[in-house]
Amino acid sequence: MTRRVLCRLDEIPDPGSRGFDFREGDALHSVFVVRTGSAVRAYENACPHTGGPLDWVPDQFLTREKDMILCATHGALFRIEDGHCLSGPCVGENLTPLPVSIEGDAVAVEF
Ligand code: FES
Repeated sequence: MTRRVLCRLDEIPDPGSRGFDFREGDALHSVFVVRTGSAVRAYENACPHTGGPLDWVPDQFLTREKDMILCATHGALFRIEDGHCLSGPCVGENLTPLPVSIEGDAVAVEF
C-alpha cells in the first residue's frame, strides 16, 4: 500500500468534496474525497456505470443539497457513507472506496 497526502482538511468545503488526480509510478490515479464535519471518505473517481469520472465541474461530486454523491453523467446517486448506488443506471452497485485518514490537519489516502 502507498500512502499519499492529498491536502489539508480545511481545504475541503464542509460539507463538500474535492477531486485529486496524481501519478504514482506509471499509474494515473483519480480520486475524490467527501467531507462532512470531521468525517472524510475517499473513492476512486470512476462511476460503476461506465467507468468514467463522476464530476463535470471539477470538485463537485455532491448533489445540490450535499446529501448524496452524484454522477453528473447520467445522474446516479450514491450514499456518502459507503458509496452504494441508490438510484440511476448502476443502482445496487458501489463506488470503490479507498482507506482515508486525517493525521494532524492532513488528509491522506492509501491505494
Ligand atoms: S456514468 Fe455515472 S451514471 Fe452513467
